[in-house]
Amino acid sequence: MKTLLTGGAGYIGSHTAVAMLEAGHEVAVVDNYVNSSAEAISRVEKITGKKVSLYDADVADKESMMEILSAEMPDCIIHFAGLKAVGESVAMPVEYYRNNIDTTLTLLECMRELGLSNIVFSSSATVYGEDHIPPFTEDATKGMCTNPYGWTKWMQEQMLTDAQFSSEASDGSANTANGWKTPLSVVLLRYFNPVGAHESGLIGEDPQGIPNNLMPYISQVAVGRRDHLTVFGNDYDTPDGTCRRDYIHVMDLAEGHVKAAEYADTHKGTEVFNLGTGSPYSVLEMVDAFGRACGHAVAYEIGARRAGDVQDSWADASKAKAVLGWEASRGIDEICRDAWNWQSHNPQGYNKTGL
Ligand code: NAD
Ligand code: UD1
Repeated sequence: MKTLLTGGAGYIGSHTAVAMLEAGHEVAVVDNYVNSSAEAISRVEKITGKKVSLYDADVADKESMMEILSAEMPDCIIHFAGLKAVGESVAMPVEYYRNNIDTTLTLLECMRELGLSNIVFSSSATVYGEDHIPPFTEDATKGMCTNPYGWTKWMQEQMLTDAQFSSEASDGSANTANGWKTPLSVVLLRYFNPVGAHESGLIGEDPQGIPNNLMPYISQVAVGRRDHLTVFGNDYDTPDGTCRRDYIHVMDLAEGHVKAAEYADTHKGTEVFNLGTGSPYSVLEMVDAFGRACGHAVAYEIGARRAGDVQDSWADASKAKAVLGWEASRGIDEICRDAWNWQSHNPQGYNKTGL
């Protein structure tokens, strides 16, 4: 299968590129490097010994995307490109809505004009809002988001679902009256907390500035870039008082994309899948596990709760197992081992050396 990964130079995209190539699929990547480096793709090629077709373009730019997609004519688009920092989205909602919504609309317009049918989208468990008690199943109603980033995911899911509906006539053929050359197949993947790195240590998460998320923060404390972690609250109603999340190894997540793209190629309609492990861990359990992996304790202090945090979030991942034949196989010890391997060999991320 020919795949095109928007945002493929980013954290999850680069790991998915490895998994796709290793499963025997072809990979093209479009990225504008707003939050990544082309070096990630060189390393994907090094890991796999295979070539990636790389395009430097803004996925919201229709002219460029028409040119790239006409040249590639992929069997499946996997749409990772987007801005993803929750706090930044509160400060810069206009940029977040413009980028995340526009990239998706541009892709849909190009797909309609070129007769491309399959798209897999990077969504998030954040769309469940705060109304449900975990584990979350895919049929739980979507909730109210607490920030613009979350709303962009919520809206992009809706836009893709509506486009799929308009693309398919009642007999299952393309709805040509609505301008479609083929019915769409849309797969919405709701990620829980992607963490870890490829086991080679060549690719991993490379956040700009001070990390917002737990695992990159812990990794940077462990490697000496930061003094200590602040644990956001230990007065939650959980066994150790800290919040619980469903941390999924990024290579498990990547392999989930291979299954999702293969599924999209053989089905029509819109399907939603949680990609999580189904097992929650607390903040302090993650700190302990990382200490075991790196061989020394990770310094932390207990701080105030972070606004917008939910106490508990984890997946019911049974649908992906039943329908896609996929389930996560790596646990927190592998997550921490691989995150540490990446961080300790690349203390300043891509294109940088030394501490
Ligand atoms: P990332 O920032 O590492 O990757 C996103 C990539 O998209 C980057 O390479 C960036 O340069 C590129 N990009 C952004 N806007 C673009 C544009 N207009 N044109 C071309 N390229 C553009 O983030 P990630 O962690 O790999 O996340 C990938 C996707 O998964 C995102 O859509 C994100 O919202 C979603 N997601 C991530 C998480 C997570 O915890 N990492 C959780 C849920 C969902
Ligand atoms: C956050 C986003 C979510 C997004 C996800 C992407 C918020 C409120 N939610 O989820 O929308 O989809 O990232 O991965 O930002 N923690 C600390 N100290 C830190 C950092 C985090 O104690 O320095 C704790 C948090 O309180 C939380 C857990 O670690 O309990 C995980 O945090 P994080 O990695 O930011 O992920 P989420 O909050 O689950």
